[in-house]
Amino acid sequence: MTEPAGAKESQAREGFVPRSDRPHLARIDRLRRALGKEVVLLGHHYQRPAIVRRADFVGDSFLLARQASRAEARWIVFCGVRFMAEAAAVLARPGQEVFHPDPAAGCPMADMADPSDVEEAWETLTSVLGEEALVPVVYMNSSARLKAFVGDRGGLVCTSSNAERAFRWVFEKGKRVFFLPDEHLGRNTARAVGVPSGEVLLYTFREQGGGLEEDEIRRGKVFLWSGHCHVHVFFRPEDVERARRENPGCRIIVHPECPVPVVEASDASGSTERIVRFVREAGPGSTIVVGTEVNLVERLALDFPDRRVLPLAHSLCPNMYRINPKALADTLEGLASGAPRGAVNVEDSVRSGARKALERMLALPREG
Ligand code: 13P
Ligand code: SF4
Repeated sequence: MTEPAGAKESQAREGFVPRSDRPHLARIDRLRRALGKEVVLLGHHYQRPAIVRRADFVGDSFLLARQASRAEARWIVFCGVRFMAEAAAVLARPGQEVFHPDPAAGCPMADMADPSDVEEAWETLTSVLGEEALVPVVYMNSSARLKAFVGDRGGLVCTSSNAERAFRWVFEKGKRVFFLPDEHLGRNTARAVGVPSGEVLLYTFREQGGGLEEDEIRRGKVFLWSGHCHVHVFFRPEDVERARRENPGCRIIVHPECPVPVVEASDASGSTERIVRFVREAGPGSTIVVGTEVNLVERLALDFPDRRVLPLAHSLCPNMYRINPKALADTLEGLASGAPRGAVNVEDSVRSGARKALERMLALPREG
């Protein structure tokens, strides 16, 4: 079959688009024009290129939360995973509504911190240290209910772009951090702000008392929940060694959800937005190897054809990938036809606590 005019150019921008997606992409474009400023489309960096190209704002989870808190449109359609859409719904203004094209697009790491298990852990730790000594810090990748638990106890949300600032915010008050749910982001952050490894303790939620003795708890400065992201623990230090061997002179950047040995072996680490900046600033002719979700890596390779952008290994987030052109077109059609589907509702009992935790993050002073 002959490609329509412009297909080559669009392939350069969007990568491979299966034929079955094309009518849905055309529907998205038509519905966007019909809905005009009524709707704003937010897209996370891990979305496939054809979705990213159609988003009004693309960013890491911090920038998208901030954008959601400032959006003017009546409807926000969030192309990302559930916790991101939920955070946008918590931050939305009265009368504004958030829609998620596939409610099944969750985050397995967020599901590793069940709020009742967290409550039990909080009791265990504070029964030794006292409530005043500990501040909960919750990664954006968590349910609204967990954010509310944290917000109601004086804590805050952080993302990979401001986790160090969040830890310092706690230490400046002379308190200790209870960080959840990502063990690896927690370890990388504790290391970056100079907490000795002996004061970083893992709370293993599948074990009685988190597997910690009272005297261990007393010497802890940072307590970590034992959750992880399967997309990022996939990367190994051997991948870094191989990438250096195969690409002499390359620069390697990874996401801080990767285990410490991978981050240590790399040249840099940072949020998805930081990764985009790193590739942009690397300059023509360079080779950059990226350890994060492969859709972002492939899009960067399309966007910067004058340099080599390679994945550290092929690791895809199937939940991000659930937001496909059909799901997005159906969501927009629901809005245009007055029969909306995919609205994200956050219970009132949860909203105010979660909002406090998110607003404390948004108010963190910028550093440097
Ligand atoms: P960022 O905040 O870096 O965009 O990361 C979100 C995420 O889910 C990483 O797995
Ligand atoms: Fe969750 Fe990992 Fe997917 Fe990010 S990449 S949404 S942390 S499963």
